[in-house]
Amino acid sequence: MNLDRIKQAGLAATFESGRILRSKYGHISSITKKGRIDLVTEADTESEKAIIAIIRACFPNHSILAEESGRLLDDTRYQWIIDPLDGTTNFAHELPLFSTSIAFAMDGVIKVGIVHNPISGELFTAIHGEGAFFNGKKIAVSSQRSLSECLLVTGFPYNFKSVLGEVMPRFSKCLEASQGVRRLGSAALDLCFVACGRFDGFWEQNLSPWDTAAGLLISREAGAQVTDFSGNPFHIEMKELLATNGNIHGEMLSLVKL
Ligand code: IPD
Ligand code: CA
Ligand code: CA
Repeated sequence: MNLDRIKQAGLAATFESGRILRSKYGHISSITKKGRIDLVTEADTESEKAIIAIIRACFPNHSILAEESGRLLDDTRYQWIIDPLDGTTNFAHELPLFSTSIAFAMDGVIKVGIVHNPISGELFTAIHGEGAFFNGKKIAVSSQRSLSECLLVTGFPYNFKSVLGEVMPRFSKCLEASQGVRRLGSAALDLCFVACGRFDGFWEQNLSPWDTAAGLLISREAGAQVTDFSGNPFHIEMKELLATNGNIHGEMLSLVKL
């Protein structure tokens, strides 16, 4: 499999998604809800339709797992994992922190990851074994060793009410131990921001494969350690994710374990 061809198709889909998201930003006419606070806008669905059309035109037999369409099964060796708009709540409130996230996996191993914020123009990419890049420049995680000097980021699941008893103790322990905790609202960007050293660590529970697939490869290629809350290597079917620069991983594991 020629991964550069895959990356080019992924980039074409990403940029078309970005064009759609920019054109809808500030002009949404329809918002529906998957849950009390879990929104879907016409931008989510139109972005996803365009991404799938471009990928299908290039690789008609590849499988697709996309947030709004679910699984479109074909050749299961090759799978695209798509979040057409990561950060829908921000998008709906015209907060310019959201992204398109596209990953390609071969035999279950993520080989290409692309995350793009179409408002800032920030583009994160990775090919397995070739490092991670931010607008074309190679990136690496931070080298910070002292948790008290670290800036962390987290996210809250849509079903937070049923897990508040887990979410809040983790949040308060990490807040006390670090220099600060942010909550941006796009898990894909959170992972990329660990990859480029803006954040030293990220944790969240109840994530889905489309939230994590591309950012997982990008952060690992930049040197991040990514596990579940028990320290097992993370894979995209897992719900709990801890990504750090590696230096603070053990200490953070002890904070997120309840
Ligand atoms: C959400 C974002 C958010 C995270 C949620 C995700 P969506 O994705 O990544 O940061 O906290 O868990 O579901 O719904 O905007 O694609
Ligand atoms: Ca998402
Ligand atoms: Ca989404």
